[in-house]
Amino acid sequence: MRKLMDKFRILVPDFIRRKIKYQTIIRFPLYKLINPYWHREAVGGLWEEIGKLQFEFLKKEGLLPHHFLLDIGCGSLRGGIHFIRYLEEGHYMGIDKDRELINAGKKELKREKLIYKNPKLLVSEIFKFDKFGVKFDYAIAVSVFTHISLNYIILCLKNLKKVLKKNGKFYATIFEVDNLYTSPPEVQQPHGALTYLYRDPFHYSPHIFVYLAKELNYEFHYIGDWGHPRNQKMILFINKY
Ligand SMILES: C[S@@+](CC[C@H](N)C(=O)[O-])C[C@H]1O[C@@H](n2cnc3c(N)ncnc32)[C@H](O)[C@@H]1O
Repeated sequence: MRKLMDKFRILVPDFIRRKIKYQTIIRFPLYKLINPYWHREAVGGLWEEIGKLQFEFLKKEGLLPHHFLLDIGCGSLRGGIHFIRYLEEGHYMGIDKDRELINAGKKELKREKLIYKNPKLLVSEIFKFDKFGVKFDYAIAVSVFTHISLNYIILCLKNLKKVLKKNGKFYATIFEVDNLYTSPPEVQQPHGALTYLYRDPFHYSPHIFVYLAKELNYEFHYIGDWGHPRNQKMILFINKY
């Protein structure tokens, strides 16, 4: 289906594509009936690849089973399944604005026989991280900043500051441009995505995050390429202060 939709993307002019969104099609009840794995496509597909990629990445960055992890925009648990399997019981918390995806994630948990790991899943669009009632060693947001505006990102970073332990680390992926002010408002990314200054999928330049980190008292690190198949880059915020 995704291959078909990719063809559709190439053949159909941009202004029509904006009206007939792929994400809208896979939400139709009939489509869900035909494809019970619609929720894997709804988070961007590449279910195994990007799921494992984020898990292996965080392990390399020092994630251990006893750590507490916050998965921001966890979706249907593409990465979550791997984290939950690895972490101690009750140490994974996922938050997403989309109840349907969270429910689909619960089905994935059942399929993987991981319910006993007791992950906490919360529906919230405004990053109510304090509802979990714990402090986190690690947080991650894969393919989330790529879909939200700068004001949402500010809210996310502001709320996270209150629940991230001292020296806690937050990794987020972005579509990158050199300079947000001088780059064109629409940019063709190397592996297919067209990204925008003004709409989803958004692109950002690292210097914006340098500025936000300074304002919100984080230490900022640019990691860059981490093997993402669609060329999303990784950035890191550390709660140093
Ligand atoms: C491309 S999916 C990625 C999901 C997951 N991180 C993964 O790697 O599979 C983006 C997710 O971000 C969620 N999202 C977007 N804006 C959000 C917000 N303001 N608060 C919480 N979740 C949000 C969407 O509902 C969606 O599940």
